[in-house]
Amino acid sequence: MSIELDFIKDMFDSIAPKYDFLNRFLSAGQDILWRKEMVSDSQIPNNSSVLDVACGTCDVSLEIKKQKGNTVKIFATDFSPNMLALGKDKIIKKRDGIMKKNETNISEKNMIDLVAGNALFLPFKDAFFDAVFIAFGIRNIMDKQGAIKSFYKVLKNGGTLAVLELTSPPEGLFRDIYLLYFKRLLPTIGTLFSKNSNAYHYLPNSVLNFPTPEKFATILLDSGFEMVNWKRMTLGIVTLFIAKKKPAL
Ligand SMILES: C[S@@+](CC[C@H](N)C(=O)[O-])C[C@H]1O[C@@H](n2cnc3c(N)ncnc32)[C@H](O)[C@@H]1O
Repeated sequence: MSIELDFIKDMFDSIAPKYDFLNRFLSAGQDILWRKEMVSDSQIPNNSSVLDVACGTCDVSLEIKKQKGNTVKIFATDFSPNMLALGKDKIIKKRDGIMKKNETNISEKNMIDLVAGNALFLPFKDAFFDAVFIAFGIRNIMDKQGAIKSFYKVLKNGGTLAVLELTSPPEGLFRDIYLLYFKRLLPTIGTLFSKNSNAYHYLPNSVLNFPTPEKFATILLDSGFEMVNWKRMTLGIVTLFIAKKKPAL
């Protein structure tokens, strides 16, 4: 693995125990709503197979499960063992709750199938998925085009790609105030709770270096996607992109 990928993997391994708490706290609970909207806007058909890439602690997968129940088969992948372990605990907890309520038996794999893997070399068959999701993951991958290419590969023709990412709000007063919070306050709070100063100083930089929504939409179009739609959420601090895989000529 490259030095860059090792750095990212080690960083997420180290902040994993505090990741969910800090997500909720630093976004004032908005992250739950953003993922909810990502899943509902993707309009996943029944009887489909979907993949949650860079799944972390599995919040997107669990939201898909919540909205779609047993009508879709969910796979989730990440390269951080600690994130995956926490995701697995959450899946088991959720499954036990469902089993208790419905007095049924559900295997873990039937809930969400967790597979360790790198977004750049996804360990799945070509043209296997009806939808691929990536929430707050693509910004951490230097080779964005490589990752998008690997999403394209595992998607069926006409399949949906949904990307949710932290973005910089458009020019204006809100942007100035937000950047003050994001560059000054957030790293201090993040460092205090996670004890990882690198991670929460890296976070604002990774967002500021992320392409504008217009530019990222162009990257998707140039990578073989069509019907690329995007919308700013919460005044532009997050953007949701939804695109379809265009069959290769
Ligand atoms: C900010 S977290 C997002 C987790 C989750 N998707 C969510 O909505 O909270 C980013 C995740 O991307 C994973 N990640 C980053 N680069 C990756 C790569 N190249 N392959 C697989 N996972 C990666 C990290 O391990 C981490 O769990």
